[in-house]
Amino acid sequence: MMHVVDLIKKKRDGNRLSHSELQFLVDGYVNGTIPDYQMAAWNMAVFFQGMEPEEITDLTLTMAKSGDMLDLSAINGMKIDKHSTGGVGDTTTLVVAPLVASFGVPVAKMSGRGLGHTGGTIDKLESIPGFKVDLKPEDFVNQVNDVGVSVVGQSGQLAPADKLLYSLRDVTATVESIPLIASSIMSKKIAAGADAFVLDVKTGSGAFMKNQQDAVKLAKTMVQIGLHSKRTTVAIITDMNQPLGRGIGNSLEIKEAILTLQGYGAPRLTELCIELAAIMIELAGITSKSERARELVKKNLMNKKALVKFSEMIEAQGGNPSVIDDLSLLPQASFRQDILATKTGYITEIDPMEVGITAMQLGAGRENRDTVIDLGVGLELKHQIGDFVNMGDTLATVYANDKRLLEDALARGASAFVLDMKNPPLLPLIYGKITAEDV
Ligand code: URA
Ligand code: CA
Repeated sequence: MMHVVDLIKKKRDGNRLSHSELQFLVDGYVNGTIPDYQMAAWNMAVFFQGMEPEEITDLTLTMAKSGDMLDLSAINGMKIDKHSTGGVGDTTTLVVAPLVASFGVPVAKMSGRGLGHTGGTIDKLESIPGFKVDLKPEDFVNQVNDVGVSVVGQSGQLAPADKLLYSLRDVTATVESIPLIASSIMSKKIAAGADAFVLDVKTGSGAFMKNQQDAVKLAKTMVQIGLHSKRTTVAIITDMNQPLGRGIGNSLEIKEAILTLQGYGAPRLTELCIELAAIMIELAGITSKSERARELVKKNLMNKKALVKFSEMIEAQGGNPSVIDDLSLLPQASFRQDILATKTGYITEIDPMEVGITAMQLGAGRENRDTVIDLGVGLELKHQIGDFVNMGDTLATVYANDKRLLEDALARGASAFVLDMKNPPLLPLIYGKITAEDV
């Protein structure tokens, strides 16, 4: 008979828990026989002692199996999922999903809603008139087989152990543990049923991982989980020291996804979409050469095949595909006003956290899970770090539906920008790539 206190003690003293011990712990916590205080103590022991690679995989799989495991076997071909650890102005999924599907690689994607300073793909998609994000599992599978791509909200109970553990970690100062973050993310991904994963691990002031070393450590841990659980996993470490694209806010990000698919996207956003899609089609076996994959991906952006695929996905999910040719069909805001440069110089900072919070407070995001969001509001950035601007030039446009919120957003949005006469060093967009060979 196992005793929880012995398992806490074992981890406290730096020893590895076995698969059956982890199973006992996770199952007991989910079914309520293990109380919060014991699980909290175990989490804190993990925080200080860490976990061994195989131990992390055991925990991840146990968490993944704590609820529904999506079965995508009815979809022909290799299913590759993409995950981002969360950023500001990151609408890559909406570009990458149809882009990858334009090669005949099936994309069955479950996405989340936004919380705090980061947006969620599902909220963004709901700004397309008529678009349904809650398909029945069989309709989801049928659509991927017929159209090649579907992006939906989470259905069923995916990794309920993670939901419980994450809430507990949130109130016990144990969120910032790499084994716990890695198992949390990967348990949800594995439960969602794909065969392989491409992970975008953000680093910088607007990211969960503030410094690059932690981002690399998290990426390696997740790639290792993939390796041990026989799901090919590739991670890239990308910059989140400024918002990725120009649009921040739901319909503004749909607009930006459409512009990107038309070839007019923000340079950094476009580049990241190309890189992610290239890795995905390479994993799917379209080509074995990274440079060739990038060329092919650029071609399907230029020739509009990816845009057509996006249009087909919108139509299949009940949305109005005319939004592609007429962006005014998207929810609009009643007020718009520019944030102007108060001096001349180079833009040296665009604080992604401030920009994200400004958009959230306008109503684009959720302060807590019950917030009702406003799909038409947000910001549109006119510049990126390193641009030279003159006093009076527009730095960003604020879209609002409330005069008072507009005033607040103009002030807060302006505070995100720092201008200086010195040209700042430019940070790379992609810091590195981690594959199974690196772990
Ligand atoms: N995101 C997750 O899904 N889990 C964590 O633990 C941290 C970030
Ligand atoms: Ca490498």
